[in-house]
Amino acid sequence: MKTKFILYSLVGLLAITILSFANLSSKTTISSLTNDELANLSVQEVLIELKDEKPIHYIHKENADSVRMGYELVHFGQLKNKSNKRISKFFVCTDCHNQVKEVRNLSIETADERLRYGIKHQIPFLPASTFYGLYNKRHWYNGDYYKKYGDLVLPTRDTLINAIQLCAVQCSQGRPMQTWELRAVLHYLRSIDYKIKDLSLTPQELEYIKLHLGTSSPKTIKMIKSKYAETNPATFGDPYISISDDAVGNIENGKYIFEKGCLHCHQLGKNITAFEFDAESLTFSFLEKKLKKHSNYSVPYIVRKGTYATSGKRQYMPQYPLEKMNKQQLIDLIFYIKSKSK
Ligand code: HEC
Ligand code: HEC
Repeated sequence: MKTKFILYSLVGLLAITILSFANLSSKTTISSLTNDELANLSVQEVLIELKDEKPIHYIHKENADSVRMGYELVHFGQLKNKSNKRISKFFVCTDCHNQVKEVRNLSIETADERLRYGIKHQIPFLPASTFYGLYNKRHWYNGDYYKKYGDLVLPTRDTLINAIQLCAVQCSQGRPMQTWELRAVLHYLRSIDYKIKDLSLTPQELEYIKLHLGTSSPKTIKMIKSKYAETNPATFGDPYISISDDAVGNIENGKYIFEKGCLHCHQLGKNITAFEFDAESLTFSFLEKKLKKHSNYSVPYIVRKGTYATSGKRQYMPQYPLEKMNKQQLIDLIFYIKSKSK
């Protein structure tokens, strides 16, 4: 009697399990997706449905509590109820990283596009990469960051959680994050990953995806991945640029870079650095006088080199790689500073 009961329960359990699995991946539910439903799916989930390999940091579904805690750690440096220690005395992640999409079309993540889109939507113009879609990248601390951090970047090159940890300690000059904190930030990043609607797909491409969902389709995977970059490239620029006499700067662009970039950290009362800008002529004439000097106070030099960080000791200024501020934009900034110092 007892064994029969157990047997029946087991069969029942098995049936339920099989049914729920069938439900998850059955082609009928997926192919009956409306375009709107498809548009709101995360790119990661769609890739998995096409049998792409899961990334190391794969999270099937974000946990709402972890997302909230991750949000608080990123925006305030600690939980809102202050039950944990601040990650960094000097910074919060949002001092250097935006949380929104920074370009209109994700397949064109250039400094020019970032500036155009940034002016339109008044987005801070920052030296580090946005967290929006960071979950969808496959490599971190790319390119010239090796020159700055050396072998420290190696474990971060293919593992997002290691990249978060390196930045907590090195870039934000803080303490190592605990496992639950790392997990919370990862869940938060999962909540702001790319959605299908972010990819600027044509109606035909959307149909093509629908047609292949639930099957192994390397071609569809390739098409989707051609719509965004899997890395944030970084090239460090020359700190001693020479500006030819016929160079022309766009003062409007320079104003945006100054106000949404430099002032993001240097504005009076922000307390990120003791070197505060008043955005009045005093600051501008100071910066103008230093332009030609090869020192920390010369704008081209500081933009390209930043200041030196000794881990955990004090705040520092991160440099802008060419991908985050290109040469013309630096010239625009210099022209703006000159125009205001008169
Ligand atoms: C003072 C500036 C600063 C602060 C504060 C900061 N970061 Fe960063 N972070 C950087 C820079 C610069 C990079 C270099 C690579 C990039 O973003 O493109 C970086 C890179 C990263 C990367 C890898 C991005 C990539 O595409 O290579 C992650 C992940 C990251 N930071 C997480 C965090 C987290 C989490 C916090 C808050 C706990 C934080 N960062 C705080 C400046 C900062
Ligand atoms: C992410 C925050 C951040 C941004 C953005 C930023 N700075 Fe800084 N900056 C700092 C910090 C912090 C210091 C202080 C560094 C130190 O004490 O070593 C600093 C220092 C400086 C200095 C003095 C250098 C020195 O040796 O103390 C200059 C000049 C400067 N910044 C100019 C700029 C300009 C121009 C921009 C805009 C293109 C800019 N900063 C954008 C954080 C920032």
